Order: sequence, then C-alpha cells, then structure tokens
Amino acid sequence: MRRFQLLLGALGLSNVVDAASTLLSGGTIIAWDDNENYLRIIQNGSVLVTNDRIAAVNSKPLPSNLPSGTTVVDISNQILSPGFIDTHRHGWQTVFKTIASNTSLTEYFNRYGEYFSADKFTADDVYISQLAGIYEAVNGGVTTILDHASHTWSASTSYAGLNASVDSGARVFWAFTFHNITSLNYTAEDQFPLFREMAENKKALLGNSAAEIGIAYDYWGSNPDINEAQTVADLAKEFNVSVVTTHSLAGPWAFSNLPSQVQRFDLLDGSIPVVFSHSSFITADDLQLLRSTNQYISITAESEMQYGHGHPHSYYAQDQAALGIDTHFTYSSDILTQARMWLQSARHYFYNQVLENWNVPTYNPMSVNQAFLLATRSGGLALRRPDLGVIKVGAKADLVVWDAENSPSMLGWEDPVAAIILHANIGDILHVLIDGKFVKKDKKVVNSDYPTIRKNFLQAAKKIQKIWKEIPYPTYEGIFASGYSYGTPQAVDVQRGSGTGFGTQFL
Ligand SMILES: *[C@@H]1O[C@H](CO)[C@@H](O)[C@H](O)[C@H]1NC(C)=O
Ligand SMILES: *[C@@H]1O[C@H](CO)[C@@H](O)[C@H](O)[C@H]1NC(C)=O
Ligand SMILES: *[C@@H]1O[C@H](CO)[C@@H](O)[C@H](O)[C@H]1NC(C)=O
Ligand SMILES: *[C@@H]1O[C@H](CO)[C@@H](O)[C@H](O)[C@H]1NC(C)=O
Ligand SMILES: *[C@@H]1O[C@H](CO)[C@@H](O)[C@H](O)[C@H]1NC(C)=O
Ligand SMILES: *[C@@H]1O[C@H](CO)[C@@H](O)[C@H](O)[C@H]1NC(C)=O
Ligand SMILES: [Zn+2]
Repeated sequence: MRRFQLLLGALGLSNVVDAASTLLSGGTIIAWDDNENYLRIIQNGSVLVTNDRIAAVNSKPLPSNLPSGTTVVDISNQILSPGFIDTHRHGWQTVFKTIASNTSLTEYFNRYGEYFSADKFTADDVYISQLAGIYEAVNGGVTTILDHASHTWSASTSYAGLNASVDSGARVFWAFTFHNITSLNYTAEDQFPLFREMAENKKALLGNSAAEIGIAYDYWGSNPDINEAQTVADLAKEFNVSVVTTHSLAGPWAFSNLPSQVQRFDLLDGSIPVVFSHSSFITADDLQLLRSTNQYISITAESEMQYGHGHPHSYYAQDQAALGIDTHFTYSSDILTQARMWLQSARHYFYNQVLENWNVPTYNPMSVNQAFLLATRSGGLALRRPDLGVIKVGAKADLVVWDAENSPSMLGWEDPVAAIILHANIGDILHVLIDGKFVKKDKKVVNSDYPTIRKNFLQAAKKIQKIWKEIPYPTYEGIFASGYSYGTPQAVDVQRGSGTGFGTQFL
C-alpha cells in the first residue's frame, strides 16, 4: 500500500500535548479563506486534526513542530475537501429502497409518508432503517445531516431514531417532529412531554457523539392551531434547540409554512437556525425576510424534480440556500449528485431565458465553485455553524479524501473543484472523517458491526417491503386537499407502437 502511517513522536520530532492528532499530509486541499470569503486551493499541503477540530492548515506536506504522537496519513496526489452537508432528509425511510421509483408527491403522501407508515413500523425497524441510511450517506461523503425525523410515532420509535443517529457517528441534527398521528391516536399534545423528556436528558442521550437535537413542525401556516404552534416555538426557545425545520411548499400544494407564517411565532430573529425545506413557491417578500433574518432554504434538487414540486423561484434564492436530499429511498443519497443535478438544472434554466428570446447564450450562468459552496459551506451557514463545511483552523474536522490519483474518471484533473463536482462519483471517496475520527477508511465503512447492521437491515427491509407490496396503489380524481384540482402529466413512451409504454416496476 502506498499509504503509510508513522508516529512522528517516536522519531522525536515533537514533544508536548497528549491529544489525539492526525496529519493528512500532501494532496490538494480545498480550504476556506475567511479574509477572502472564498475557497483557497493549497497544493501539496497538509491539515492537522487535533481531537475533533482542525488545528492547522499548512502549505507544506510535513510541517515541523507537530504534536507528539501525531499519526501521519499520506494523502499525496489526492484531494481533501470538507464533508458535504445535507439539510433535509428522512432517515427512517431507507427500508423502502427502490419500491417507489416512479412515485409522485401525491402518491408519496398517500403511500409512503409519516402518517401512512406510522402503524406499520416497529421501533427496531426505525432504528435499523435510520442507521443503515446514515451509513449510506457517510459512505457518500455526507458528514452532516439535518434529519426531519418524522418517525416520532411513539416514545420507542422516537428513541430508536435518535439512538441510531447517535450510534452512527455522523453529525446528525435530529429534529423531533410534532404531528397528529390519527391512526395511533398519538397527538402533538402527547408528544410535547416526550420531547421535553428527551431534551432534558440530552447530555446523557447524546453523550460525546456528534448528534444534536432539533425540532420539525409542518403546521405554522396558513391556518395554524395557534396554541399548538406557539407551544412548539416556545419549546424550541426553552431548550435552545440546534435547529428548527419545516416543509415549505406553498403553490397548489399548500403546506405553505412560509417564512412570514413562521415569523408570527417569533422564531426567525433569534439565535436558532430555521431551515425551510424546498420553499418551492416562496414569495419575493418571504425571501427578503429570510435574507434579513439570515435563515435558509434547503433545495432538494433531485427530490423536487422527481416528485413534481417544481421550483419556479429557487434559482433566485441561491444566496440563502443549501442543498438537501429528502426521501433517499427513491433516488440518490449523496450531496455530490444533488450539487451536480442542481448546477446543470440552474444552467438549463438561465440559458433558456436567453434561448426563449431566440438569442444565443454566451457565458455559462453558474460555476462549479458555486455548486461546491452550496454543498458544503452554505449548509454550515444554514445551520448557523460557520465551523461546518469548511477547511480552516478551528473548524470541525469533518473531511473527505478523494482518490484523485487512481480514479479513472478523475484522471487528468487540474482544478480540484471541477474534478469533484463534474467528474468524481462517490465510489472515488477514499476516507471520510467526522469529528476527527475515520468513519470510512480505504473505501470501507469503519465499524466492525457493519456486516451485522447490513444483515438486520435486509431483514427489516424484506418485512416492510412485503407489507407495502400488498397495499393497493391510490387513484386520483377531483381535487387535492389544498382545494386545487389534480392534473395528469403526459406520459412518456420511449418505444413506438403500443403495449410497452410505462411498464411496471420490477418488484
Ligand atoms: C510535495 O512536497 C514535498 C516536499 O516539500 C516534495 O518532496 C514532493 O515531491 C511534493 N509533491 C508533489 C506532488 O509536488
Ligand atoms: C436508546 O438508548 C438509550 C440509552 O441512551 C436506552 O436506554 C434506550 O433503551 C434506547 N431506546 C431504544 C428504543 O432504542
Ligand atoms: C385517544 O387518546 C386520548 C388520551 O390521550 C383518549 O382520551 C381517547 O379516548 C383516545 N381515543 C381513542 C379513539 O383511542
Ligand atoms: C392536533 O389534534 C388536536 C386535537 O387532539 C387539535 O387540537 C390540533 O389542532 C391538531 N393539530 C393540527 C396541526 O391539526
Ligand atoms: C443557544 O445555543 C447557541 C449555540 O448552539 C448559543 O450560541 C446561544 O447563545 C444560545 N442561546 C441561548 C439563548 O442560550
Ligand atoms: C407506479 O407504478 C405502479 C405499478 O408498478 C402503478 O400502480 C402506480 O400508479 C405508479 N405510480 C405513479 C405515481 O405513477
Ligand atoms: Zn421531506
């Protein structure tokens, strides 16, 4: 193996400090420069990690005066980037993998969502589905996840999802969801004391893991239960939660939860970050409110395209946006893919404005650097964590090493940002560190229990998928809950003639 490790301390190169230090040595570093407020590329440099943070970013591969006992990991000819930040996911859904490849959002609500699934999952199903899903994300270079944890269907399913998030080793902002689960007679009111119990025991529950506790709530507007919504807002403040998040769709979907509606409960001006997922039909005024309060939207590019959310104005909100995944059982689970899809869809959108006037586009409207920032630093800012998504002194050591030396698809790279955003795939990820600890090493998940986790996950997935296969698909007539009519899109047929068309899913 080309990679080597040695103990510099044993060679007498340093003394002092008994903290755990690792030097990622050599390679091209995509660092962050606070003075320039921009990315800074360092060739053949090194990053010193001490405990959970970045202690030094060096222009030399092997600086002098390293702390004693520093482990040196050779990453020469590789690329070192910050870990990706996913600002919207529902981790519990991993067991649905591939069974909804053709789903639309209306079908999702009626067949895969939190209300429909509530009485069909055990706490063990939630635990293993959440855990396997987080490993999937980590394997793809995602180091921080804002989990809109809509599996809060009982005390045991709630604890199961939080425990899996803690056990995963990833930086999961686990956002407890308040919702009325009619099928189980389990209301938001029943959930308040449970949340309180979890938040009060936060120290014991989270231990020294990278996990955090937040709140998710989807009933701020347009016609809220004022008392319920105010209770949620008050709990967020009482426990100073790490994040509040909401699904904001608006348009014909309703589920508005627009920033101005949330602001009626006085949440946007404080120190708590509030993340508005999708924000497909955000208004110009609402976007200005986000700018003035510095709160963010989460664009889930692939989800919004697959489901048919639309995003008529999201292209203009990119200065106040980060990227997310959403329901990863129906599509990619990694933020690199989101960044690439979003970049190309933004290019398509802005080019079209020129083409619609029968003009010929000159310059390219969006750069790879901007896609990279959305996938990394913007996620940190959305969570009000300037120490996430960047490589700089004092930042959390959440890092990804890309096998830029050996990857056939990256061969010939010069610009490391373009190499990642447009050429790499997650199979090129060599190592992932979270809080300074390796969670993926030499392309393998670091956890001796992972084979058992896979086995238990497959059992749960088989069980859940069997239940779902027996459930008839819904049909749609008349109007959606928002009061707007259903409409049927033109179906694509890639073969001429009749009888093949859409086909069935291979389930
Ligand atoms: C990196 O720097 C070291 C020492 O400064 C040098 O020996 C090595 O050849 C350099 N590597 C590359 C790829 O430039
Ligand atoms: C969650 O973890 C705690 C320990 O932190 C344990 O007491 C509890 O039984 C676990 N609950 C579930 C549902 O896994
Ligand atoms: C639902 O729970 C409440 C108490 O939380 C109880 O008063 C009510 O009878 C229950 N309803 C049903 C249908 O079980
Ligand atoms: C949830 O149910 C309670 C009644 O148990 C009701 O008062 C409340 O308004 C409901 N909340 C929402 C958002 O519908
Ligand atoms: C809430 O926690 C954040 C850190 O997560 C801290 O900066 C802020 O001061 C706290 N706010 C209150 C009101 O305690
Ligand atoms: C997905 O495919 C199934 C059959 O495989 C079909 O019954 C269902 O209506 C399809 N859903 C959508 C949203 O097209
Ligand atoms: Zn969602």
